[in-house]
Amino acid sequence: MKVPFLNLTAQYRPIKDEIAAALQEVLDTNAFAGGRKVERFENVFAPFCQTGHAIGVGSGTDALWMALLGLGIGDGDAVIVPVNTFIATAEAVSFAGTLPLFVDCDEYYNIDTAKLQKTLSAMSYEQRARLKAVIPVHLYGQMANMDEIMALAGEYGLAVIEDACQAHGAEYKGRRAGSIGDAGCFSFYPGKNLGAYGEAGAIVTNNAELAAKLRMFRDHGQQKKYYHSIIGWNARMDGFQGAVLATKLKYLDEWTKKRRQNALLYNELLAGVDGIQTPKEMPHTSSVYHLYVIQSDDRDGLQHYLEQNGVATGLHYPVPLHLQEAYSGLGYEKGDFPVAEKAAKRILSLPMFPELTEAQIGYVCDKISEFRR
Ligand SMILES: Cc1ncc(COP(=O)(O)O)c(C=O)c1O
Repeated sequence: MKVPFLNLTAQYRPIKDEIAAALQEVLDTNAFAGGRKVERFENVFAPFCQTGHAIGVGSGTDALWMALLGLGIGDGDAVIVPVNTFIATAEAVSFAGTLPLFVDCDEYYNIDTAKLQKTLSAMSYEQRARLKAVIPVHLYGQMANMDEIMALAGEYGLAVIEDACQAHGAEYKGRRAGSIGDAGCFSFYPGKNLGAYGEAGAIVTNNAELAAKLRMFRDHGQQKKYYHSIIGWNARMDGFQGAVLATKLKYLDEWTKKRRQNALLYNELLAGVDGIQTPKEMPHTSSVYHLYVIQSDDRDGLQHYLEQNGVATGLHYPVPLHLQEAYSGLGYEKGDFPVAEKAAKRILSLPMFPELTEAQIGYVCDKISEFRR
């Protein structure tokens, strides 16, 4: 049996005609850059996220960078970022002219709030004055401990930008990803839970002033064509992507339900397997399982064995940010973030997508048990 890591064709097949009709409308109306289809998507995505506003942009990386700029965070400032995330979270901080400060993760792979508190209280007066925000990342589809993050942010006067790029529709105490902080940032990279057919992203917020600023910023700082009130950028969402995303959003809750069922089945079948640790859900959260990540002794051996048996897997992520060459200039060392460093050597992402069958999950788990025996 072959089990792919992701199967976008299986998702596309049943909605093919609907997608074709939506794309045809873009062609018929020439709404290629921004335009009506993007607006329509924003109007359904904001309530989906329980927020007042959604601003469609070019990518999740754009969304993070623009959220920082929109909140007035830039040159000479510092922002806290979890050390185990996709590099885009930190890149956005760096591109804003800001210093990323890393914090280790907890057992749920999200920013460890006890360590966040320790980092904050150990800062000098000057360091605290530079620090402007924290970016919790809802990694693998599970929301970070938002009550504690919001409390600490309140105490230290920090903005909170949620990196919800992997967490479309995830919940924390009934509140959806992106709706708790000052802004939430989403990626619609094709492999995401809500994926475009190209590059796209969005920022959601309940702050009307911030939303208006970001709408201007993504369109060269103009509200009226060729009248530029601020220096902006071209970060508009593509019209085709708006059409695809609005069509697919109708199915997202159903797809999430299937992802959760798949995760439960994996949990069940891997429960007794020696040396395997299945992912845990933090109380009061509902993960959307963008990724299903186990930990294993001899992870590399297991990955190789699965590959030989037709099962595709991934590593998210093999190197924590402080050990990436790109961030070697920050002065961090091996051993600074022991939880993330240990996890990086043990984690393995198993196939996860809504259309995964029980037989495929059964096969993957059989092969894992076989390897561990
Ligand atoms: C956690 C996280 N942050 C940011 C991004 C960046 O999103 P994009 O690839 O759309 O720029 C991604 C997606 O790859 C991500 O997973």
